[in-house]
Amino acid sequence: MESMKTSIAGMPLQHPIFNASGPKCTTFEELKALGESAASVILHKSCTLEPRQGNPEPRYVDLELGSINSMGLPNLGYAEYLKMMPRLKTFGKPVISSVSGLYLSDNITIVRELNETLVDAIELNLSCPNLVGKPQVGYDMEQSDAVLEAIMAISKKPLGVKLPPYFDFVHFEQMAAILNKRHVAFVTCVNSIGNALFVDPEKECTIIKPKGGFGGIGGDYIKPTALGNVRKFYELLRKDIGIVGCGGIKTGMDVFEHILCGASAVQVGTQLMKEGPSCFSRITNEFNSIMSRKATHPLATFKEN
Ligand code: SIN
Repeated sequence: MESMKTSIAGMPLQHPIFNASGPKCTTFEELKALGESAASVILHKSCTLEPRQGNPEPRYVDLELGSINSMGLPNLGYAEYLKMMPRLKTFGKPVISSVSGLYLSDNITIVRELNETLVDAIELNLSCPNLVGKPQVGYDMEQSDAVLEAIMAISKKPLGVKLPPYFDFVHFEQMAAILNKRHVAFVTCVNSIGNALFVDPEKECTIIKPKGGFGGIGGDYIKPTALGNVRKFYELLRKDIGIVGCGGIKTGMDVFEHILCGASAVQVGTQLMKEGPSCFSRITNEFNSIMSRKATHPLATFKEN
């Protein structure tokens, strides 16, 4: 197969690889660098109603096999991203807004205003693990259903949902029933695995400061969990709901594995932080060279052992 064009939420993409709403997508300079990179989409940092400084530092640490963070949604506030939209659209690729209001009413305000912009789609973040006193909505099935009912009723843009990782089949089934009923356009599987702890044995302390050192882990540590979530949601969701894989993507082979399990596109977070936006051309080239050796789409060949 030649290089794989794909689509998410009805948006044609040149290839499946773009950034996660995570590192290096907060300021205009960072988003411009993504626009100029080989990433197939520009996705901005999850925005809130008001600008946020985020949690105290140190709040992000690169590790040999991934990362831990407790950023606390530092962002410019949704109004700045609205203002940037015409400039972001000049890069000739789809732009997705990540929305993570602290209250349902905030999300309603932000989505209503995004309706009137050039943004191509919205990714509603129901899974930030790093807000003190705010549990991850995606783990509360009733609340997730109520939030999606309210937001789907007002969104004129294709709406996707960024999910936390699930670990039990019953939770996959409960969330899939909600997503199928609410007709979301895509799901992103997965946000970081929350509330992990890394300690420095020399200094006898946690390696990040916020939340007593507890933070979300990404990178190699979470690829099997991400693949499990991609595959399970691929099995359970309506086939018109796209799946965006996120977790442990550093090479073209990682992209291939996510696509084999059911993803239509993938997001890169930890590796973007380690390598910068040039990672997109490297990973895309690696992925294309794998695909050039394949006769069919990977989903046609997936089998259980
Ligand atoms: C953060 O800003 O704390 C990370 C964002 C997220 O995990 O959703």
